[in-house]
This record gives sequence, structure tokens and C-alpha cells, in this order.
Amino acid sequence: MENGRAQFSTKLGVVAVTVGSAVGLGNIWRFPFEAGIHGGGAFLLLNLFFVFVIGVPVICAEFIIGRHTGSNVRTAFRKVAPGKAWGVVGFIGLLASILIISFYSVVAGWTMEYIYQSFTGFSGVHSVEGLHDRFDAFAASNWRPAMWTVLFLLCNYVILVRGVEKGIEKMSNILMPLLFLILIIFAVHSLTLPAASEGLEFLFNPDFSKITPRVVLGAMGQAFFSLSLGLGCLITYSSYFTRKTGLMKTAFLTAGLDTLVAVLAGVIIFPAVFSFGQEPAAGPKLVFEVLPSVFANLPGSMFWSAAFFVLLFLASLTSTISMSEIQIAYFMEERNMRRSGATNLSVLIAMVLGVGCALSFGCLGNLKIGGMTLFNLFDYVSSNILLPVGGFLLSLFVGWSLKRSIIVKELLNGSDSRWQRRLVGGIVFCLRFIAPVCILAVFVYGLL
Ligand code: PHE
Repeated sequence: MENGRAQFSTKLGVVAVTVGSAVGLGNIWRFPFEAGIHGGGAFLLLNLFFVFVIGVPVICAEFIIGRHTGSNVRTAFRKVAPGKAWGVVGFIGLLASILIISFYSVVAGWTMEYIYQSFTGFSGVHSVEGLHDRFDAFAASNWRPAMWTVLFLLCNYVILVRGVEKGIEKMSNILMPLLFLILIIFAVHSLTLPAASEGLEFLFNPDFSKITPRVVLGAMGQAFFSLSLGLGCLITYSSYFTRKTGLMKTAFLTAGLDTLVAVLAGVIIFPAVFSFGQEPAAGPKLVFEVLPSVFANLPGSMFWSAAFFVLLFLASLTSTISMSEIQIAYFMEERNMRRSGATNLSVLIAMVLGVGCALSFGCLGNLKIGGMTLFNLFDYVSSNILLPVGGFLLSLFVGWSLKRSIIVKELLNGSDSRWQRRLVGGIVFCLRFIAPVCILAVFVYGLL
């Protein structure tokens, strides 16, 4: 402990919790379905551009602010930019975290249903059509998805009340390597499926005619969502980093591993989609309808299916914990609440909105705002609007307003290596010009 604040204790812990926040449903559920809707290869290529050209510098920006101030999002801006309007980033972050956790918990709830289904052998249903119908019936059934959403949030609660170090760090250390391993096994298996090459072609061969303003906006939103970026989540986490953590290294490692997991998920899903005659543009249901048919083909399918959904469930938990932590740190440090009260409040808000999102596949299906259900609206507004706006402001703030000496001190960590200095220069350049201009351009292009 330093200054009475919790800190992550080991080097591996720092990377594992940050990657733990980044890796989750965003990679394994959201990336394949977004890529499926938005034309595969072209989407992946754009996504890679956004991850490395905008994502990595903005991760660094959040890390700099977080470790320099050692505070939650709101207080952080009060310290680095007292009396200035930059603090609005904190509110954007709070709002985005509330919206994301609400629809995210619904999907995490689906993984819990699928753990249960794995143990009961999907009641003997193995055909692709049968599994489709089963998912549709489940998602539309109201009480069951709502119940899982609430249960998922209760799991979240149990870890959160135990605090940062005991709960989050320990879990991430074990989970992340295990998830990686199982993904690699499945990816290898998918490559043996009959239409594997068609799937890989879809994912890796960009068809540039598919690029539209929506695709570009979607790829940018996906980069922000998947990296947990633009809402101050990484400010909050890096406020628990020690002085020893190399910020640039951690930023590149997080972006690299996170992208690798998304690509692996694509390598698992798309060969299966084409081999089983399914539709790549099926939307949020894609992964849940396709994966069980992949497992059905494996020897010991029940075991694989259960193992996968358990890991996915746990990976979701490490992500939702990081979203709640934004709110909890804020309630505690800005509103003087105790950890238990702050946790109660954060989980309660998520439960009310989460149940609303769960029901948008059932009885609230006709409640449309701007043509979108509550679930789709929360996803769209947070990923495609709030996170990029947060990223835009963060890059402008660190690029133009924050003292250069703070940036250099945080990023270099006392090193005087020449190429590291150059890298810092490159990151600052991206934060000043490339990131804000690109984000703005995507918005303007999207509105045309
Ligand atoms: N990055 C997480 C995922 O890919 C989702 C997330 C978004 C977590 C924003 C925290 C903040 O699943």
C-alpha cells in the first residue's frame, strides 16, 4: 500500500488485470458478430488500424493520468486540470460504464445458461436448426435471461466487496492463461472443419467494396470497446499500478494480446459458420448459435462446451468488475461512500438496467428508441459514441494540455534509451494529431 490506496502486488498481476479487463465478451462474442455483419476482412483490417494507431496511444494517455494522480476518473481530472472542463471525461466514463455493464451482463448471463445447458447435454439437441430455435426461445423467454443477468451481477458483487487486490488480481492471474489455451485448442479444431478455408477467407481477405461509414464507425467502436478504452477504466486500474510498471510495454502487450484473442475467436467461429451453412451476419446471437455445433463435433463435447462457457463467464467477470470499479472508486472518493455502499449502488443500477436489456429480446422487444431495442441502443451509444468521444478528449488533453514533463516521466520511467524516447515522441504525436483527427473524421464520415 502506498498513500493508503490498494495496489496490485506483482508484475504479472498488473498485466493480467489490465488484460483481464480488456479480454472478455468484446473479443469472443462482439468481435465475431460485428465482423460478421460488417464484411469480415475489411472490418478486421480497419479494426487493427484503430487498435494500434489510436488505441495504444490512448491507452498510454489513460495510464499516464491514472498513475500520475493515483485517483478515480473524476478526482484525477480535478488534480491534473483543476477548474477546467476536462472533468467531463469522468462523467462520460461513468455513463458509459453504466450502459455497458447493463447489456454486457445480459450476454454474460447467456454464458451461464450455456454452462447449465452444457451439463444437461443441450437436452439432446445437436442439429444447427435445433440449436438456433433453442437459443431464440431462450432469449425471448423473459424470466430466464433476466434471472441469469441478476445472478451474474451477484457474482460480480461478491468479488467487488472483497476489494481490488484479493479478488481481482488473483482471479485474473489464473484465468487469462487458461482461456488462451482453450481458445488455441478450439481454433486448431476449427481449422479441420470442411469449409475452414472459406471461413478464413472471409476473415482475412479484405473486400474493400464492403467499407461504408457504418463499417468504419463499427471498427472504431469495437477497438475502443475491446480495449476497455475511453471511459477511464484504465485510469482507474493504472491508479493502482506501482512505480515499477512499464506503461508503454503494458499498453502494447494489452493491445496485442487483446487483438490476438479476438482473431482467435474469429478463427474458431467463421470456419464453423461456413461449414454448418450458417449466416455470418446473424448479429448478437451468432456465437451462441454457432459454438454449440462446433462442440457437438468434438469428442467429449459436454466437457469442452462446459469448459469454454465457464471460462467465458469468468472472462466476462474480470471485465464487468473493471467497469464497476470505475463507479465504485468514484462513489468512494468523490461521494465519500464506503466500499460496501458504493458496491451496492453500482450493482443495483446495473441490475435494473440489465433486466431491461435482457427483456429487450422478449416482452420489451417492441420498445424501440431510434429504431433500436434497449440492448442495441446501450451498445451503440456507448461503443460508437461515448467511448470514442472520451478517447478524443483524452488524447487532446494529454497531447495538448498536460505538462510534457509528466508524460515523459510516466512513460519513460527513468529510462534513457533512445528508442524509448522516440517512441514517446511518436505516442505524443499520435495523441496530438492522428487520434483526434481520425476520430473526428470517422464521426463526420459517419454522419454523411
Ligand atoms: N473490453 C471488455 C471486453 O472486451 C469490455 C469492457 C468495456 C470492459 C469497457 C471495461 C470497460 O469484453
